Amino acid sequence: MKTKINGELYDLDPHPLDTAVDVIREQAGLTGTKMACGGGICGACTVLVDGVPMASCLMPANHMEGKEVQTIEAHGPENLHPVQRAFMANEGLQCGFCTPGFVNEGIAFYDRWRADHGKTRPSHHEIALAMGGHLCRCAAYVGIFAAIGDACEGQFDEVTELIAPRVDALEKVTGTAKYTVDTKWPDQLEGIIVRSAYPNAIVRSVDTSAAMALDGVIAIADLMEGNRRMRWVGQPIVGVAAINHYTATEAAKLVKIDYEVKPAVVDFDQAMDSSSPEVWDDGHDGMPTAAEGTSLPYRWTNNVGRIPMGLLTARRAGRTNRQFESNQTTVSKEFFNHQQVHTPLEPHTTVARWHGPKSLEVQASTQNIRFLRHEISEHFDLDVEDVIVEAQYIGGGFGGKQGMYNETKAAITMAKEADQPVRVIASRGEDLSYCGLRPGALIKASLSSKPDGTPEAIRMHAYGNAGVAGGTAPATMMWAMSPSGVSLDMQDYAVITNTSQGTPFRGPDAPAQRWAIEQLIDEEAEKLRMDPVAIRRKWFPDHEIKNRLLDWVESIPEWQGRMANPDRTGRFRRGIGLATAQWILIHNPNTEVRVSSSPKGITVSCSTQDIGNGTRTSIAKAIEDLMGISRHDVIMDIGLADRPNGPTAGGSQVTVSVYPTTYKAAEDVVAHLIKEAMAKLKLSNAKLGRGGLHHANGFTAWNEILAVAEPFSATDIRGAERNPLGFRFAMASGESAPAPAGRFNHGAVVTELEVDTRLGKIRPINVWTAAAVGKIFVRELADSQMYSGVIQGLGYALYEQKQYDTQTGHTLSYNMNDYRIPGIGDTPNIHVHYDEKGFEEIRGKGIGLSELATLGVAASVGNAVYHATGWRPLSTPITPHDVVTGLKTLKG
Ligand code: FES
Repeated sequence: MKTKINGELYDLDPHPLDTAVDVIREQAGLTGTKMACGGGICGACTVLVDGVPMASCLMPANHMEGKEVQTIEAHGPENLHPVQRAFMANEGLQCGFCTPGFVNEGIAFYDRWRADHGKTRPSHHEIALAMGGHLCRCAAYVGIFAAIGDACEGQFDEVTELIAPRVDALEKVTGTAKYTVDTKWPDQLEGIIVRSAYPNAIVRSVDTSAAMALDGVIAIADLMEGNRRMRWVGQPIVGVAAINHYTATEAAKLVKIDYEVKPAVVDFDQAMDSSSPEVWDDGHDGMPTAAEGTSLPYRWTNNVGRIPMGLLTARRAGRTNRQFESNQTTVSKEFFNHQQVHTPLEPHTTVARWHGPKSLEVQASTQNIRFLRHEISEHFDLDVEDVIVEAQYIGGGFGGKQGMYNETKAAITMAKEADQPVRVIASRGEDLSYCGLRPGALIKASLSSKPDGTPEAIRMHAYGNAGVAGGTAPATMMWAMSPSGVSLDMQDYAVITNTSQGTPFRGPDAPAQRWAIEQLIDEEAEKLRMDPVAIRRKWFPDHEIKNRLLDWVESIPEWQGRMANPDRTGRFRRGIGLATAQWILIHNPNTEVRVSSSPKGITVSCSTQDIGNGTRTSIAKAIEDLMGISRHDVIMDIGLADRPNGPTAGGSQVTVSVYPTTYKAAEDVVAHLIKEAMAKLKLSNAKLGRGGLHHANGFTAWNEILAVAEPFSATDIRGAERNPLGFRFAMASGESAPAPAGRFNHGAVVTELEVDTRLGKIRPINVWTAAAVGKIFVRELADSQMYSGVIQGLGYALYEQKQYDTQTGHTLSYNMNDYRIPGIGDTPNIHVHYDEKGFEEIRGKGIGLSELATLGVAASVGNAVYHATGWRPLSTPITPHDVVTGLKTLKG
């Protein structure tokens, strides 16, 4: 088949089942085109075919015959399109996995728009319509709107210099950024995981003979590792490695598995019943945890495990209950949250090859190269030094790509068996079904207060739904975040089902906890006829940061116009709701950063990774801030596990760990360079300046100094914050704030929305979001995280729900049509505010905000829906059906 791609003639030989994206990536080697959903929903694979944007995952490869195809590589660094420049300048990207598709669609729209309208700016609505076929899970939509608008208006037509807050933006807009899915080593095989078809079964035998006999199958590996008990649909049984994906898939179908099928419990409510089949009937030793550390021990009653909180809360529970009974202000509700799936656009992927029986190389789409290397070495009995783990570009993670997940184990195991490299890419269906999720929760909560709104007692009994895993703890977290002097009855339970395990997800447990407590506070305010801000001031009356945030809320004109008793008539009703949030300071005190100077420039080394949060940029910005060298000129050496110890991309800990450490190491390098410059260039009175050294005779730029200076390296270690033992988790004390609230960072979010009472649709219009996190290190990156936190929070509030067939245990929300994440048209106007005071004693004076940005969003939506309609949503996502039926209960 002959086709022209980017003006070059290709002679391709597609497999009958290949789509255009397959041959573009695998035969033409143009990996800038990404495959993310495989169903024409996300737009990541968009290319131009005879000038028309097409989802190449839907186009049969042989339809490319005689066509002119244009991929992102047509616009390389040397001939950037204004749309690419606008994406870079406006932060229209984070991880970059969706970016080539957006850019191609944007270029086609730009051409149409300019032909019809000249250099004018399309409206928000027109851009949303044009880009509506694309999804960005990092939710960089605010930047994308700005980029398309600016480009169409001609703002980047004449621009030639590189304008980009992000140091790796150029690689992402040109498709040259290489992700794990793009890895292609010589003789590489494709691996498929054959998974349990039953939610509860024992594998009696596996017959792989027919599969092994298939032409092109190279190896079949046991993935059960001695555990034949299947506890969820999708649990790995064997892996098939073959010369291509089709052969591996065909062979997988030939694997015969004999199961002893046992009764299972898939439904959460059924699992609460003490007569349901017990998931861990042979003991809980192998039970995984959805938490980032080890979960607390449980006392079990069938599938319900209770964390024994002992004297922490049990001693106070009786007093709390009496307060609820005697207090006229008591409000009680049951809240529910469905499970949310991370849905990174780059699915869980690993490529592995063995260089000998004790030498392994792994490319992994991971949030933690350093820890993964340790896990792999332990699991496969290797010395750490003999394991290479690399991850240069990662297409999102959001908490779901921590640790050694099943695709990683499978790729390594199959590569050993085959003695060839093996790549395992989870399909979109697998990723949505088996690769982690934010646990669901049932929270029974009560609150009582004094007549002036001061809280007196809080009860939170939380039942976590993390599938086969334990480890959820929203109530324990609430205990830590409650005002002192308040009676508490906090209890966390794990409710175990025969479904795949929960994993950490951006602010684990906190959105559910906020969903419950912030709505309960509003309920209490209404009962006491108080304003939502006024009652929240009673919670931490002396807390300066919280009160400043509440002052900010009261400064929002739309909030000032909020009516205590709005008109709740008519089809479309508007409401405005508030929620506050707080999150623990997490940093990695063992973070080490090495800064080196040489004639090549300044190099920074650290075994951390950039999942789209902007790690490279945060590190390079520290050099820019100190030395005045452009962040784009700093040589970044990250993404390899053997570099100095770096942090996990999780817990909002990266920036707070790497920025101050880089800065300090760079100060040592500067001291060296001053000495060298004085000795070798005979400079006197040399002092640090922007881009070089001031001295008695003027100014000398760094490149002149680096050219003569002896190469030098300095390494700094982050160190612990008020924590001599160096625990990974450490609390920060805010300015003159009383414990325990001062140990946290703080946020507030206000949502204005409109409810269509006839169709049940909720349309967020404005979201104001604030973070009190001290110094903002890179404002554009911070804004991007704040925007994406809001949009992912809206997904949690309104759209996202993992759904199961409760009879079979299979996932029903198996594709991105059935699992709905927010699109560009769902983006409201988002207004960001920072409070930068209050963390002066923290090294670097600033802390993380990524998780904080999403925690309170759903609760603010819940409060806004109530304000608009008088009906309080208790369950997420708030579906149109829920709204319509909920409103009927009011009328009834
Ligand atoms: Fe769009 Fe990550 S930048 S999915």
